[in-house]
Amino acid sequence: MANFAASSTAPVSAVDVIIPKAADVPALLALVNALAAERNFLFMNPIDPVTGITILQRHLEAIAANGDEIVLVARDGRELVVLITGIRGTHCARRGAIDIGLGVLPGHRRRGIGHALLRGLERWALTAGCQRLQLRVMTLNTAAFALYRKCGFLVEGVYHASAVVNGRYYDEFGMAKLIQLAG
Ligand SMILES: CC(C)(COP(=O)(O)OP(=O)(O)OC[C@H]1O[C@@H](n2cnc3c(N)ncnc32)[C@H](O)[C@@H]1OP(=O)(O)O)[C@@H](O)C(=O)NCCC(=O)NCCS
Repeated sequence: MANFAASSTAPVSAVDVIIPKAADVPALLALVNALAAERNFLFMNPIDPVTGITILQRHLEAIAANGDEIVLVARDGRELVVLITGIRGTHCARRGAIDIGLGVLPGHRRRGIGHALLRGLERWALTAGCQRLQLRVMTLNTAAFALYRKCGFLVEGVYHASAVVNGRYYDEFGMAKLIQLAG
C-alpha cells in the first residue's frame, strides 16, 4: 500500500501517520469522540461506543475497497491523536474534489502534526487523480485558517451564518487548493 505518511519536520518524527486498520478501530472511535467533544470549531458527530465499533470497521473496509474516502490518523505512543478525512464527491463530475475534515487532540497541537496529515492527504489525492482540496473553516478559527494558508489554501468566499454554535451565528470561509489540473 502507498505510504501517505509525511516526510516532515523534526517534531513530527515522533508520530506515526497511518491508514487505520480493524485493530485501530477502538482507538479511532475514542479519537472521534474526543474530537467531537470540542464543539466550537470542529463539527463532528460522536459515535456510539458499542454499535460504533462494527459500523466503523465496515466503513473502513468499504472505503478501502471503493476509494471514495481517505482516513489518516497519527499515533503518539499507543494513542491516536489526530484524524484527517478526505471525502470525494459522489457524482462523476465531483470525483476530483475532496472535502476535508481535520482535528488534532488539544495536548498535541503546534507540533506540526496537522500540517503532516494535510500533506499526507494531499499525496493520497494526487495518487487518486483528484484536482481539488476544499473545506469550510469558521472565520474566527485563527489556528486552522493559518494552517490552511500555510499549506497553500486560498479563500474562495464567505458562507454567512453557515454555522450555529451555542445559539450564535458564525461565518465560515470557503477555502480550496488546486493540486493538479489535467491538460
Ligand atoms: C487547526 C489544527 C488542526 C492545527 O493543527 P496543529 O497540529 O496544531 O497544527 P501544526 O502544528 O501542524 O501547525 C502548522 C501551522 O499552522 C499554523 N497554526 C497552527 N496552530 C496555530 C495557532 N494556534 N495560532 C496560529 N497559527 C497556528 C501555524 O502557521 C503553524 O506553523 P508554525 O507552527 O510553524 O507556526 C488544530 O488546532 C485543531 O485540531 N483545532 C481544533 C479543530 C479544528 O479547528 N479543526 C479544523 C476545522 S476546519
